[in-house]
Order: sequence, then C-alpha cells, then structure tokens
Amino acid sequence: MQNESRQAHWEGVYTQKGESEVSWFQDNPAPSLELIKKVGATAASAIIDIGGGTSRLVDNLVDRGFEDVTVLDLSDAAIQAAKARLKGRAAQARWIVADATVWEPVKSYDVWHDRAAFHFLTEERDRAAYVLRLQRALKAGGYAIIATFALDGPERCSGLPVVRYDPESLGQNLGREFQLVDSRKHAHATPWASNQSFQFSVFRRCLKPPHLSDD
Ligand SMILES: C[S@@+](CC[C@H](N)C(=O)[O-])C[C@H]1O[C@@H](n2cnc3c(N)ncnc32)[C@H](O)[C@@H]1O
Repeated sequence: MQNESRQAHWEGVYTQKGESEVSWFQDNPAPSLELIKKVGATAASAIIDIGGGTSRLVDNLVDRGFEDVTVLDLSDAAIQAAKARLKGRAAQARWIVADATVWEPVKSYDVWHDRAAFHFLTEERDRAAYVLRLQRALKAGGYAIIATFALDGPERCSGLPVVRYDPESLGQNLGREFQLVDSRKHAHATPWASNQSFQFSVFRRCLKPPHLSDD
C-alpha cells in the first residue's frame, strides 16, 4: 500500500468513527499495561506508542506518573481526538503525526509499544523500513512490545489485509538483535462482543549487536 493511500485510509476512519466504534477499541489497555510494568518501566522511562491511534494507553501512562510518553500515528485526526479526550493532560505527552515506515526518530526510547499497527505492513519493504526505525529508536537493552493478530486471528482489519503472527514469526521479522523474552495470547472483545485472537510479544534489544557478541 502506498504511504499516501494508507494515510488517507486511516484519516477517513478517524474522521468518520468515534473512539468506541472501531473493532480495536479497548476500554482498558490491560495487557499492554501489564507488560509495560513487567519489563520494569519506571516513571522516567521513555515510552513510544507506535500507531497509538486513539488508544487510552497514553491516558493510563500519564495517570500513573510516566513523564516521557510519546504517541505516534499517521492519522492527524486520531492524534487530535486523543488530545481532546486528554484535555489538559495532553501536554504531558508528546505527539507525532508520521508514518512509522518513513519517520526519522530524533530521540531514543526504553520501551516501544505497538498494538495492531505492524500487522498492516503486508509488504516486505515496509516491514524492513519499520524494523530500521525500531533499531534507530530503541535503546540497547530496551524492550519492544508488539501485539498483532495471532495465527488464528482475523485476516483483515478496518477493511485492510493483515499479516498474522506468532511470537517466532514476528521475531524472524525483527532479526537476531531482538530476543523474545515473553509472549501471550489475548482474546480481544470488540465493542460488538466478538472475539479477536491477538498475540503480544516482548523483545529485548541486545546490549551488543549479535555480530559483536561473544556467543
Ligand atoms: C487497529 S488501529 C490500533 C490503534 C491503537 N494502537 C489501539 O490499540 O487502539 C491501527 C493504528 O495504526 C495506525 N497506523 C497504521 N499504519 C501506520 C503506519 N505505517 N505508521 C503509523 N501509524 C500507522 C492507524 O492510524 C491506527 O491508528
């Protein structure tokens, strides 16, 4: 998918639908919060939510005292809707309107979180571009928490095809620099009470690039 049509698609979604009218709506992003806690993130940790859309993850992090939270999404409408919901608290987060496959990170992060953005990258070159940004943006020893539809999950979302993963196939996309340290399945209940099978995987970025490691 071309970057322009991808952007137009998501802009259309967020200008036409309310927060809870999309299948991926979560009242409480509990699996993400649990994993962010489990990787040992502290209030000072720099966390970025890639393809954050209008997710309430940012609200929860700000409310828990996280001081360095960034939300990146290619839809300006999504970012504006999330900011409007947060009202004054929006200033406690950073907001970036960008496509994760072309964005140039200007700082580095302790935690990279992505729920249901990576799985829309159906072309190899887009996945490679995403992984390049992950390598540039995540600190050595930092964690990438990536949730996608699982192998038994839906084949499409928001009218678009997706790639489904298990932790191993996701890891193969990220490369040897990222070691799988945790994973779980999660049945997401959509607002219309159907279930979607997700997998959440946690990868730790190696302290040393694999080609320089002793083992
Ligand atoms: C299914 S929604 C999930 C939103 C959010 N992560 C959540 O859990 O509620 C996918 C999101 O990824 C964003 N997205 C899709 N492709 C993207 C890309 N290449 N770069 C940045 N954001 C992207 C969309 O705008 C949308 O907000």
